[in-house]
Amino acid sequence: MTRISRRRFIGAGLAIGAASIFPAPAKIALGANERVRLGSISCGGRANELMADFRKFDDVDIVAICDPDSSRVGTTKDKFEQELKTFTDCRELLDDKDIDAVIVATCDHWHCLGAIWAMQAGKDVYVEKPLAHNIYEGVQVVNAARKYKRVCQVGMQQRSDRIQPEIKKFLHEEKQIGDIKMARVNHYMPRNPIGLRDQPLEFPETVDKNLWLGPALDLPIYRNNLQYDWHWSWNTGTGEMGNWGVHVLDDCRNVVLLDAMEFPKRILGGGVRAGEKDDGETPNVHFVYFDSGTVPVVLALSTLAMAESRSAGPHPGPGSGYIAYCEGGRLEGQRGGAKAFDSDGNLIMEFKGNSGQIEHQRNFIDAVKSEDSSILNAEVAVGKATSEWCNLANIAFRCGRPLDEERAAVVAKAAEGIEKIWGEALDSAQQTLGSNGVSMLNSDVMVSDMLTFDSESRKFVGVDAEKANSFLSREYRSKEFTVPEIEI
Ligand SMILES: NC(=O)c1ccc[n+]([C@@H]2O[C@H](COP(=O)([O-])OP(=O)(O)OC[C@H]3O[C@@H](n4cnc5c(N)ncnc54)[C@H](O)[C@@H]3O)[C@@H](O)[C@H]2O)c1
Repeated sequence: MTRISRRRFIGAGLAIGAASIFPAPAKIALGANERVRLGSISCGGRANELMADFRKFDDVDIVAICDPDSSRVGTTKDKFEQELKTFTDCRELLDDKDIDAVIVATCDHWHCLGAIWAMQAGKDVYVEKPLAHNIYEGVQVVNAARKYKRVCQVGMQQRSDRIQPEIKKFLHEEKQIGDIKMARVNHYMPRNPIGLRDQPLEFPETVDKNLWLGPALDLPIYRNNLQYDWHWSWNTGTGEMGNWGVHVLDDCRNVVLLDAMEFPKRILGGGVRAGEKDDGETPNVHFVYFDSGTVPVVLALSTLAMAESRSAGPHPGPGSGYIAYCEGGRLEGQRGGAKAFDSDGNLIMEFKGNSGQIEHQRNFIDAVKSEDSSILNAEVAVGKATSEWCNLANIAFRCGRPLDEERAAVVAKAAEGIEKIWGEALDSAQQTLGSNGVSMLNSDVMVSDMLTFDSESRKFVGVDAEKANSFLSREYRSKEFTVPEIEI
């Protein structure tokens, strides 16, 4: 059976819509010499990067692109010499039986619906991180991958850097610096404010508003730009936590926690959006404690520049990475490398790698051709778990209450046993905010209670559970764009 007839066979009669009635498509692997025909759902910045890399492979053809922003479709098309099918509605792209697999690199609020529709149409999927805008949606994507037996890789490319197994061996098998006691995850990178208009932004004429919004609500937008800065609105984005936080946390979950648990048991988080007032809602200073059940993890993000410099705040270790504190030293890891130090601070080991970018995409294509999800480095279930930790961190922030003396006691109690890393994260936030004239206490800084997440029921229980559970899914704008519940 040729590749084309294979796709016709599995895609026959599948129209996108009510998920649960679809049967699982038959699995027939592409031959090793066959080419993979790829479509891109998105012509945004990341989709263009991904397409440029996929085009480096001899056995991949980009055959179709799609974006509700027709100007972006046009500029992307111009980068190709060969004929390309172009669409604004991804459902039309997915109806094309001559496409084997798709990239989903849309705004976060579209990731899951785009990925589910694609798998229902018999396509394999490379979906960007964070997998999900909320916890409900991530579960449905994993169910879709299982039900329709599709290959689904999440864009957490550091998983494909060859240094990760070496670091795991060093830390866990050889235990060269002893048991891991605690971990700190960092992302410090200043960003500019996104503007605050008097009147709502009008969608550019080139953008199909209905398709761009998809599952999101039609809320007035007061920022300057429609594209990219959707990251900082809860309606469409997941903040820096789902943007960069997901990468650095994923490294920590991978090499420090060995992906041992899907969810943390307890979580406490806080932060603030400080600095020049803009239309952003997501915090630009965010600190979180995860009780993983084994190694405690503190994650600190800042995109707020200190007043006197372009630094986003003081921090130990890499500005974007993680530190595993061990009995006999520490390991500092970041995209493309890691260094291990003994207790006296002497460098004892260095790991050199890369971002995993090309390797991750090659890994996807190999899995598509062999129809073998087991070889994926960031299979959708793994990608879902790290996204879920980010979703939980955002929920903790959204459940926050003003940091007063009473709440400061809750925060201090969370520090028991991890005073060093929790204290450093809070000190850093205090210094960054202080330089911007914002005090930690009795200001706009919000902090949650210690929230408890029950991994069995996949719900918060105990204090503030009702409020926290209200963020596990989202309100959809219409039935047409509601992420369906997929039963396996
Ligand atoms: N893995 C990585 O290293 C990495 C790097 C950058 C971005 N990303 C992720 O990629 C995603 C896109 O980020 P970006 O920087 O390209 O943002 P962007 O704003 O430049 O692009 C998003 C694009 O999605 C389009 N879009 C919206 N709805 C769509 C739909 N229904 N069908 C097709 N296209 C649709 C938008 O019009 C826009 O062109 C984000 O989720 C981001 O987190 C990952």
